[in-house]
Order: sequence, then C-alpha cells, then structure tokens
Amino acid sequence: MSWLYRHCIRPALFTHDAERIHEFTLRQLSRASTSEFACEVLASFLAAPDLPVDLFGLRFPNPIGLAAGMDKNARAVSAWAALGFGFSELGGVTWHAQPGNPKPRVFRAVAEDAIVNRMGFNNEGAMALATTLRDWRVRGRWPRHPVGINLGKSKITPLGSAPDDYANSFRLLRDLADFFVVNVSSPNTPNLRQLQDKAALEEILVALHEAQRPGAARPILVKVAPDLSFDALDEIVELATKRKLAGLVATNTTITRPEATDRQTRIVYAEAGGLSGGPLHTRSTQIIRHLFRQSRGRLPIIGVGGIFSAADAWEKITAGASLVQIYTGLVFEGPGIAKNIGSGLKTRLAEHGFKQLSEAIGIAAA
Ligand SMILES: Cc1cc2nc3c(=O)[nH]c(=O)nc-3n(C[C@H](O)[C@H](O)[C@H](O)COP(=O)(O)O)c2cc1C
Repeated sequence: MSWLYRHCIRPALFTHDAERIHEFTLRQLSRASTSEFACEVLASFLAAPDLPVDLFGLRFPNPIGLAAGMDKNARAVSAWAALGFGFSELGGVTWHAQPGNPKPRVFRAVAEDAIVNRMGFNNEGAMALATTLRDWRVRGRWPRHPVGINLGKSKITPLGSAPDDYANSFRLLRDLADFFVVNVSSPNTPNLRQLQDKAALEEILVALHEAQRPGAARPILVKVAPDLSFDALDEIVELATKRKLAGLVATNTTITRPEATDRQTRIVYAEAGGLSGGPLHTRSTQIIRHLFRQSRGRLPIIGVGGIFSAADAWEKITAGASLVQIYTGLVFEGPGIAKNIGSGLKTRLAEHGFKQLSEAIGIAAA
C-alpha cells in the first residue's frame, strides 16, 4: 500500500493544491463513514494489529492516533478507526464558528516531508460540532476507539476572556467525547501561545475544572509548542501536576525553520505558519524526553511531530510517549501508515522481549 501510494497515488494528488486535496479526501472518508460496509472494507486492508494501551481510564486498541486538525468538524469519525488508528483527536474547535485565514494556507515541502500551514482554526464552531457528534451516535456510526476533542480559542475572543471561551466549548462537548486537549500552542491565532504562560494557563485549567460534570470528569490534556524553552516546559509540568492534568500532548507545529536545501523548500519555508513533519521530528522527541524526565514518568505524554515510520514511533515511545499521533505522515505515507507502524512496533516489542507497549515507554529517556 505504502509503495503504491508513494509512487502512484501521491504524485497525482500532489499536483493539486494541498487544501483542495484535503477537502477531496475528507469528502470521500466522510461518505465512507456513513457506511458500515465501506468501513469494513477499508479495515480489511488497513486495520492495525492489536497493541492495546490502557490510559486515562480508556482502552486504546493501538497507540497510533490521528492528530488534531485533520478532521476539524468531525466529518469522518468512523473512517479513522477503519484506517487503523487507535484513537482520533477531532477539532480544533472554537466556541465561535470562524473561517480561518485567507487561502492558500497549506503548503507542502516535498523534499523534506514537511507542511507549512496557517489555517487559523477554520471550523464550524462548538455548537455545530456537538450536533455532528450526536448525529454520528444516533446513526450508530460511532467508532470503537477513544475520541478526543482539541479545543482552541476563538479569534474574536480577547486573551483575557480565554478561560470562558475554552470552558464554553468544553461544557457543551464534555459528554460527547472521551478526552479533551487544550490547544494553547497553535502559531496561527494571534498571541494564542502566550496562554502557555503559567498564570494564564492556570486560569484556563481552573475554568475547565469548574466546567467538569460532577462525578463524570473527562481527562484533560494540554498541547505544547515545540518552541518553548525547557524552563517554560518545566513550569507547565509543575502546573499539570498541581491541576491534576491527565497528560500533555507534545508537540504542535513550530514557527522555526531549518536550512532549506532546495528552491521549492525555500519558497515554502518563507510562508508564515507552523511547520510540521520531517523537520519537527528531532525537536518534538527532545521535548517528550524532557517532559518525561521532568515528570519522572508520572505524566502521560502523547507524542506527535514527524512520525512517518515504526522507527519514528518507537523513538517517541522510548523517549517517554505513551501514545503517538500523526498528521503529516498520513499525507506523505498514505492510508497504510497506522498498519505499517503497528506491525513495526509489534516486531520491536518482540525483539526486546516486551509483552506490552507500556514496558517500552521512556526506556531511552534516562
Ligand atoms: C494543516 C494542519 C492543521 C492543524 N490543525 C491543528 C489544530 O487545529 N489543532 C492542533 O492542536 N494542532 C493542529 N495541527 C498540528 C498537528 O496536530 C500536529 O501537532 C503537528 O502537525 C505535528 O505532527 P506531524 O508532524 O505528524 O504533522 C495541524 C497541523 C496541520 C499540518
């Protein structure tokens, strides 16, 4: 599948604008999501091997998840499980519907397996998402894997009112998903990343805590930027422990740019926005390792950034990630990616004599 995708399908897709292809693909997956038969056919080719992980009181059939931003309006909820993903993170959703930045706003740097995006949280808003999620449940098309929701801040909401903005979305959606991720790390909403500052983040976490349903609290994680200093990350770890966060997601896209080796890459890197994929790989692993060490392995980490292969996922897990997520890898490697990574992880576990994935978490973090 991977060879066919890389050499035949991808070159055809990549002759078109990135967001147009994204829209086209989502439309197909959305259609497939409505049909049990279509999902079963997809799963018969693409299902990943069982590699269960128990975390946040949830059972993940495998540790390979779909990262936030791919399905912002929950259009293809059942398809992600059929493509072999062990969990999916829908959104980012904001309290107010918003169009995002003007197009074009997604750019591929093919030689580097990278994407620059400045989508700007284009989404239909929390109310529309709630309706869509209820609809999937009513139709009996809810996936058999944990579903998370990525919460962003509405562009029109001033930073000072961010706690209410996040809490409004959370209150509306809290019964409709299994876990929630507070996104204070997207580079594409002006000043959003200032909310990673300890005092500002604490206000948001307090507001979310107060918005939990009594007796049925949902796991809440915070997603961090790869551009934070280790000191700033340490403050977030401290806060996460104090506020009993379920975990951290590391990392979002970076505003930094490595040296470009060819002209096309140089042009793409000159675009404003967040960079994901290959160039993010090493930095996100460093951050996972640091967070794991700093929290003495007590704070679960979802590792994301430049995962294309089982070797990449293994690196993240052994650096301290309990689960991993993929965005750019799906674009560049195609729909067989979860299955390939799952099979490769199983082989690595056997080579190390491990029975469960949990035995591998953080073994290379020392
Ligand atoms: C087009 C695009 C849109 C994204 N939208 C979101 C988003 O809404 N919320 C979020 O937390 N991360 C978002 N991300 C970041 C990804 O979830 C992920 O953290 C990042 O791309 C690094 O992973 P990767 O190298 O596998 O792509 C987006 C990434 C891309 C490329």
